[in-house]
Parts: sequence; structure tokens; C-alpha cells
Amino acid sequence: MATVEHTDGTAEAAPPTGGEGHRRRDFINVAAVSFAGVGGLAVLYPLINQMNPSADVLALSSTEVDISRIQPGQAIKTIFRKQPVFIRNLTPAEIQQANSVPVGDLRDPQTLAERTRDGKANWLITMAVCTHLGCVPLGAAEGENRGEYGGYFCPCHGSHYDTAARIRKGPAPKNLEVPEFEFLSDTVVKIG
Ligand code: FES
Repeated sequence: MATVEHTDGTAEAAPPTGGEGHRRRDFINVAAVSFAGVGGLAVLYPLINQMNPSADVLALSSTEVDISRIQPGQAIKTIFRKQPVFIRNLTPAEIQQANSVPVGDLRDPQTLAERTRDGKANWLITMAVCTHLGCVPLGAAEGENRGEYGGYFCPCHGSHYDTAARIRKGPAPKNLEVPEFEFLSDTVVKIG
């Protein structure tokens, strides 16, 4: 056992250097690890929680639109999942124009019926995002250029879409995308 010599010549056993000291350090280490564990959980929880869609994100995942005021020949632009969407009420002449095109001649072959709902072929709902590089085409607002095929015209690089919003001319590879949608009534449509 180690001893400590005093100046008066007496000696006594030295206080333990391991035992008590180690236990103290162990406690400090364990405490630090525990805090790290709690801290880790506290940081992880919000991260995991962020991965679950919150109520406002879920609400954004669909959009209900009142279409009662869109007259035949008119279109509106609305927003769905932070992207613009066209809702267009086609006239009988525009429907006829879309149906008279041989589908095989189309770059992205699709009939108007495939892009609309049964009995509601006049309601053409598409993303307002050009399939070339993502510009917003013209043609929804009154007096805007609707292109050579009477649908939409993308001024960025000159893509022309027809009355079914199918690509007919210019660099865009695909028709304007039709999002998921359903009619909740004759005047309300739910997109998404
Ligand atoms: S982004 Fe529309 S034609 Fe290029």
C-alpha cells in the first residue's frame, strides 16, 4: 500500500487514487452519455416528425375549385400543390376540333375522352406547365395567344397545344399533364 510521509516523520496510508476517484469519473461519463442520448432523441424526433405530412400539407395535396362561373370558351388558372393548373370549359366547336384529329398523327397520342371525364368532355383540366422546360403557357386569360391549334401557346420556345392541350408543334415532348381530379358535384371539382 502507498504511504504519505509527513514533515514530522510520521507516515500514514495514502488516500485511494482509484476507487472513489474512478467512481466519480464513471458517474460523469455515464451522465454525459445519458445527456447525449436524450439530446440525440430530442433532435431525431423533430426530424422523423417532419417526414410525416402535417395537416396543412395534406390539405394542400388536393384542391377544390368552384367551376360554376367558367363559361364555355373560358379558362381559369388555379394552384395545385404549388403549381399552376388550367381549368377550361371547352365549347362544342373546340371539342369537335379536338375529336377530329387522327390520334395516330399526334406526338403524344391521346384522345380528348382519355383526358376528360365521362359526360364532361368540356371540362379540360391540365397542369399549366409546359412539358418542354416548364414555362407557363398562354391561353387561359381572355385575349391571350392560344397558338396555332387554339389551345395553349408556350412563348418560351414556341410550343403549340391544341384544344385538348395536346402538343402539336414546337419542342415540348408531351401533352400538358392531366392531374388526378374528380367532380364532387356539377360545379365543384376536386383536383388531387
Ligand atoms: S418551356 Fe415551353 S416551349 Fe420551352
